[in-house]
Amino acid sequence: MTKQKKRNVIVGQSGGPTAAINSSLAGVFRTAKDRGYSKVYGMLHGVQGLLEGRYIDLSDHIRTGLDAELLKRTPSAYLGSCRYKLPGINEDRDVYDKIFKILDDLEIDCFIYIGGNDSMDTIKKLSDYAIVIGSEIRFVGCPKTIDNDLALTDHTPGYGSAAKYIGTSVKEIIRDGWSLETSNGQIIIVEIMGRNAGWLTGAAALSKGEDCDGPDAIYLPELDFDVKAFVKKCKELLKKKSSVVIAVSEGIHTKDGTYISEMGNATDYVDAFGHKQLTGTARYLCEVLSNEIGCKTRAIELSTLQRAASHCSSRVDILEAYEVGGAAMKAADEGDSGKMVVIERLSDDPYQAGTEVKDVHKIANDERLVPREWITKDGTYVTSEFITYVRPLIQGDVAPVMVDGIPRHLYVPGYQELL
Ligand code: F6P
Repeated sequence: MTKQKKRNVIVGQSGGPTAAINSSLAGVFRTAKDRGYSKVYGMLHGVQGLLEGRYIDLSDHIRTGLDAELLKRTPSAYLGSCRYKLPGINEDRDVYDKIFKILDDLEIDCFIYIGGNDSMDTIKKLSDYAIVIGSEIRFVGCPKTIDNDLALTDHTPGYGSAAKYIGTSVKEIIRDGWSLETSNGQIIIVEIMGRNAGWLTGAAALSKGEDCDGPDAIYLPELDFDVKAFVKKCKELLKKKSSVVIAVSEGIHTKDGTYISEMGNATDYVDAFGHKQLTGTARYLCEVLSNEIGCKTRAIELSTLQRAASHCSSRVDILEAYEVGGAAMKAADEGDSGKMVVIERLSDDPYQAGTEVKDVHKIANDERLVPREWITKDGTYVTSEFITYVRPLIQGDVAPVMVDGIPRHLYVPGYQELL
């Protein structure tokens, strides 16, 4: 029997960027080349860009080993990202026909999408449609999200680096807060991303060690937030120390589901998946505290910094992201479709993990939250089990390539003209 000649691969990035998403891209590219594929195309701004015929041939851009190493150290989505929700298969078949026509014209065998739960919705729908029309293109998801909220995987690439940055930054904030004495004391609120999952906020506890007490309280979105109880807790803390540091998730909400961020001057922005932009939680809480207690307050929203901090990335995370990219490509090459690569932890110490593929239908649009038993009884901290879980994921460093004192990144030359 003659073996069919391998044709081409297309890869895209979608959802919120991370410090590790480009390492997965490098892994997909390398494995595709090693497995004999001719061209590896990169969608510019995910499926949204693909629908407009925007893509590049990655071989023109990742030419050397140094390019690949720079790519692994480049934060944000190298190809550009999108938050684009595909319509249901029966809602608008034209969109699907358009995508499959583009893929057929490019002679695509494998479609790899690097993203979070919303992006896995895209893999689910495209792989389902391929079955409907009898297409042989394989669709495989490569997990990524700082939120760490994807189902069926121990953790997601991107989380470890963001957690490392958060642990480091919270430690630096605590150190800074301690140094200046303020007459009525001060409360610093650090707002951390993660939407409805508290994995990132809990990582603030990583700052705790021999030389640092860690934050004084941590509030995760898994539990309802009570503003009055929070003010009471802050008053008690201020009696004991002059500088209080508290980590809060951007997604904390009251019992009736109102986000705390909505109680301040929040924006009304909602993305294609119906997610509200969560911002201003720390600012609002600081206003409440300064009105109720009259102390000095400072609101620190880690915002973009926590997902773009490549200079503080975790070696474990960057290497795993690369491997997961390679595993997604391998799975598609070996015939899997409608699947996502997951990470399975084999042991905490020494940390060991491997990859597997699981049905994307069981992953897309779901949210994996921090288990209740990993949050303390009073709901204001994470337990030692949480720390044992996250600690291995932040180990090791990846030295940036410094040019003139600033990290060097890989970028697509003339990107704007390609849009
Ligand atoms: O999905 C990852 C994430 O970083 C969330 O933690 C956060 O709520 C959201 O993206 C922010 O998205 P954007 O940058 O589009 O406002």
